[in-house]
Amino acid sequence: APTPRLYHKNIVDHYESPRNVGSMDKSDPEVGTGLVGAPACGDVMKLQMRVGPDGRVEKAVFKTFGCGSAIASSSYATEWLKGKTLEECETLQNKDIAAHLKLPPVKLHCSMLAEDAVKMAVKDYQSKRKALEAQEGEKA
Ligand code: FES
Ligand code: FES
Repeated sequence: APTPRLYHKNIVDHYESPRNVGSMDKSDPEVGTGLVGAPACGDVMKLQMRVGPDGRVEKAVFKTFGCGSAIASSSYATEWLKGKTLEECETLQNKDIAAHLKLPPVKLHCSMLAEDAVKMAVKDYQSKRKALEAQEGEKA
């Protein structure tokens, strides 16, 4: 008998061959880092994005210590982020990730980790830019 398909092929695909697994230098001024944890299960997700001179994400990577749905969510998020402006990045919602991966309802919170990590990475990047601009202001 065929094995029951508990998960949609989109999740299985991202889980078995996750895209953009990796890490970038957190101190790089062009890199925003988001690090979030899920208190309920202890899973941790790190998501980083590098913003190019045109203000668009040129590279996004992640490392997730967590369940398959969390890995799939972060993998999908890093693919989605590429080429987006920061404003666009902030519009990524966990329900869109969940819909794409067809996550079962009990796994919705796993996609929330990815949304939170993206938002935190955008904030981190923006606060780095502000700090740099302030420094340059002092020099001028
Ligand atoms: Fe994983 Fe809720 S059980 S975050
Ligand atoms: Fe931990 Fe999914 S159960 S993030």
